[in-house]
Amino acid sequence: MERTCLAVILAAGDSTRMKSSKSKVLHPIANRPMIAHVVDAVARSDISSVALVVGRDAEEVAKAAQMGSVKIETYLQGERLGTGHAVLAAREAVARGYDDIIVTYGDVPLQTEGPLKAARQGLAEGSDVVVIGFHTEMPTGYGRLLVKDGELMAIREERDATDAERAVRWCNSGLMAINGRKALDLLSRIGNANAKGEYYLTDLVEIARSVGGRVTAVDAPEIEMTGCNNRAELAVIERLWQERRRHEMMIAGVTMIAPETVFLSYDTAIGQDALIEPNVVFGPGATIDGGAVIHAFSHIEGAHVSAGATVGPFARLRPGADLASGAKVGNFCEVKNGKLGEGAKVNHLTYIGDANIGAGANIGAGTVTCNYDGVNKHETVIGANTFIGSNSSLVAPVSVGDNAYVGSGSVITADVPADALALGRARQEVKPGRATALRERALAIKAAKKAKS
Ligand code: UD1
Ligand code: CA
Repeated sequence: MERTCLAVILAAGDSTRMKSSKSKVLHPIANRPMIAHVVDAVARSDISSVALVVGRDAEEVAKAAQMGSVKIETYLQGERLGTGHAVLAAREAVARGYDDIIVTYGDVPLQTEGPLKAARQGLAEGSDVVVIGFHTEMPTGYGRLLVKDGELMAIREERDATDAERAVRWCNSGLMAINGRKALDLLSRIGNANAKGEYYLTDLVEIARSVGGRVTAVDAPEIEMTGCNNRAELAVIERLWQERRRHEMMIAGVTMIAPETVFLSYDTAIGQDALIEPNVVFGPGATIDGGAVIHAFSHIEGAHVSAGATVGPFARLRPGADLASGAKVGNFCEVKNGKLGEGAKVNHLTYIGDANIGAGANIGAGTVTCNYDGVNKHETVIGANTFIGSNSSLVAPVSVGDNAYVGSGSVITADVPADALALGRARQEVKPGRATALRERALAIKAAKKAKS
C-alpha cells in the first residue's frame, strides 16, 4: 500500500546574511523564486500534503510557493527558536498522522526528489529517522554526522563540536525523514540546552535512539544540498543550476557552442537539434522547437520559435512573439506580441509590436510598427507575401493586404488593399546642376572668412 507523506518546508528564517529587504527564499534562481524550486522537488516525491513554515514576508513567501496543483498549508512560526521549533509550528499537520514526514529547507533550491525519496525508502525499511547527509571538503558551518558501526549516533552542530568531530567531512544537509506515527512524540522531546539556546531538529537523532528507535543516514550529492545564506552563495547556486540544466539539454539533443554563455530560465524549453549560439539569454516562457537556430547575443522571453526558424544575431523576442517555421528575425530587430507566418522575414533594424504578419512577407530594414499612441496599443495586420519597403512606418491600427507593396520610406496611415502599391512619402524633385552652384557658394564663403582673419 502507498505510504502517506507530509512534507514540511522550513522557510521562516530572517535571512539576515542576505542583507535584503525580502526573505531569501523569494530571491530568484533561473527567474523563479527559490522556494518554488523547493516545492517542485517536494511535489515530485510522491507526497500527500505540504506544510510551509513561514516567518518573515509570510504572505509573499506563501504566494511564491503556491504553484501547480500542489496544495500548500502555511504555518506561521512567530518566534525563531530553531529548526526543531520550526517543524512544530506545523504541529497541526503533523498531528494528522502520516506514515512519513519529510523535513526540508526553503533555502536549498537545487535539491531534487532523489534524496527525499531515498530518505522515505529508509522509513519504509524500518528506520524512525533518516538524515540526508552529503560529503564536502568545506564542512565549516554544517552539523557533522557522527557514525559508529554503520549507525548514525548523533548530529553535532559546529559550535558544539570537539576538534575531532569538526574534522568529519560527512555533513547534515538539514533534510530528513521522520516516522510520522512517532514524529510528534519525538519532536516534543527536543530541548534547547546548547550553545545557541535553540531547539535543534538535529537532536532528534539522539532522542530517537534513546527510546530504542532506528536512525540511519543516506548520502546526497553535495551540489543538491548547497544552501543559500548570502548573495555570493546565491550566485554560486545560480551557476550550478544553469550548468545542470544546460547539461540536461545538451544530453537531450540541443547544440550549444559555448554553453557557459547561455542563460536559461526555469521553464525554457528547447527541442532536439536546435542550435543555440554563444551569449543567448532566455527569460521566462521561451519555447524553441527542434531545429530552430538562435544566433549569438539574442534575448528571448515569452516567445515561441518554430522548427526551421532563425533568430539573431542581436535579436530581441519579447512576450507574445511567435515565429512560424522558416521565419527569420535578424540583427537589431525587436518583436513583441507579433506573429510571423511561415517564411516571413524581418531581417534588419526593425520593431514589430502588436502585429500579425502573413506567410512569406518581407519586412524591409528599419520598418517600425507604430503601435502605441501614448495611451493605447493598436494592431498592424500585414498580409501574406507583402513587401514592406525599408524605413517604413506603419501607423496602427492599419492593415496591408496580401501581395501588396509599400514603397520605401512610407508612412502608412490608411489601410492598403491586397495587390496595391502604397507610397506615403514626398515626391522626389531633381534640379540639374544645382549641386555645383551650392558647392561654389560654400567655397566662396570660406575664402571670404580666411581673408578677414
Ligand atoms: C542547520 C542544521 C545543520 C545543517 C545545516 C544545513 C540544525 C540545528 N542545524 O543549521 O546541522 O548542517 O542546517 O544547512 O538544524 N528555520 C526556521 N525557523 C527557525 C530556524 C530555522 O524556519 O527557527 C529555517 C531557516 O529558514 C532555514 C532552515 O530552517 O531554511 C535552516 O536554518 P539555519 O538557521 O540556516 O540552520 P543552520 O544553522 O544553517
Ligand atoms: Ca543555513
